[in-house]
Amino acid sequence: MVLCLARAIDFLHPAVSEHHLRVAYAASCVAEELGLSGVQIEDVLIAGALHDLAAVSSPAWAGLLEEALTQDLLSRTQIAQEVHRHGMQGYLMLRDCVPFAQAAHAIRFHHVDWDFGRGSEFGGIPVPLSSHILRLADRVAVLPGDSANVLAQVADMRAAVAAGRDRLFHPDVADAFDVISHKESFWLDLTSRHKERILMRRFGGATVPLDLEGLRALSRIFGKIIDYRSSFTATHSSGVAAASEGLATYLGLAPQQRGMIGVAGYLHDIGKLAVPPALLDKPGRLTAQEMFVIKQHPYYTHQILSAVPGLEQVNIWASLHHERLDGTGYPFRTRDIPLGARIIAVADVFTAISEDRPYRRGMTRAECLAILDKQVCDGALDGDIVSILRREFDEIQQIRNLSQQIAIA
Ligand SMILES: [Fe+2]
Ligand SMILES: [Fe+2]
Ligand SMILES: [Fe+2]
Repeated sequence: MVLCLARAIDFLHPAVSEHHLRVAYAASCVAEELGLSGVQIEDVLIAGALHDLAAVSSPAWAGLLEEALTQDLLSRTQIAQEVHRHGMQGYLMLRDCVPFAQAAHAIRFHHVDWDFGRGSEFGGIPVPLSSHILRLADRVAVLPGDSANVLAQVADMRAAVAAGRDRLFHPDVADAFDVISHKESFWLDLTSRHKERILMRRFGGATVPLDLEGLRALSRIFGKIIDYRSSFTATHSSGVAAASEGLATYLGLAPQQRGMIGVAGYLHDIGKLAVPPALLDKPGRLTAQEMFVIKQHPYYTHQILSAVPGLEQVNIWASLHHERLDGTGYPFRTRDIPLGARIIAVADVFTAISEDRPYRRGMTRAECLAILDKQVCDGALDGDIVSILRREFDEIQQIRNLSQQIAIA
């Protein structure tokens, strides 16, 4: 799941292709060469796959990130400070999610230079070796250029890293890298299009299956990343997750099913990571061209989630949220819409119209129900689910509201 989410984050930065997957690969190879344990290698892999998640989740940082990624400008103090901030933010986003607590620590300091030993701590706090592994892997990931065969660049790239030993990079980490980077296969794997498969084959033995709570915690984080990208819908995913779980409860679904529907609620718009933030936040009407771009998002939700084993059902529920019962929805134009997907569809419309947005207040109960009823009459939404919503309106409204307030905090 982490790897496919890394791929999803990488959608955001076509300029730095596959950055997260590359860092995950390079960092885990270095960790292995350093003799770290299986669990530690797994933490490094997760940290690499998610290390810039705070930077990519904020449109304001996109420019900064690209600059930091493509040039080594970190010595300039003001940029350096900004750069450390996204490590801190990433740490804050992940630290409470137990399976990612160690990865969170690594991410916190992933831009700290070794600086002849001064980088063994930062602001009085010890910097873990895993952060220094990320520091080097982050640099290595952006070295290969597109203009020449990667193998033709190996000597220069290795020299560039060796030149940073002690100053930028922890000497042990730099030495481990020197060993692995001697192999052509390292560079071919690093630039391969099939990195998830390569990573799973090499390090997959250490995977920990997530239980429902772990999965919920992780999907909540991804809901936040999706929502952070738009000030218009800053807590939308949390609202949809809460409202759909509420509906599932009143429909009498089993706890496991309800939990998975909540996961689908958090992830339903993950395909929006492929939509530029400027479009998501565009004031006024969208042009026809822009509409086409927006309409692709449930298709990308499907693409992203279909790479995760165990999320097949969640994927169907999540990626059919813009389908209509009469078969005229998008992108699959199917009439075959399972209950979970119908619940998400109702929760999505309900949340969109009842949540407050910067440019308008949320609608009243009467206004909400009028719109939902119309969509039932038009053949879009499921009438039985909307009836449940009418019956339990105040309760579900409260659950939704509360979850969105918590998401802001
Ligand atoms: Fe970073
Ligand atoms: Fe990075
Ligand atoms: Fe959507």
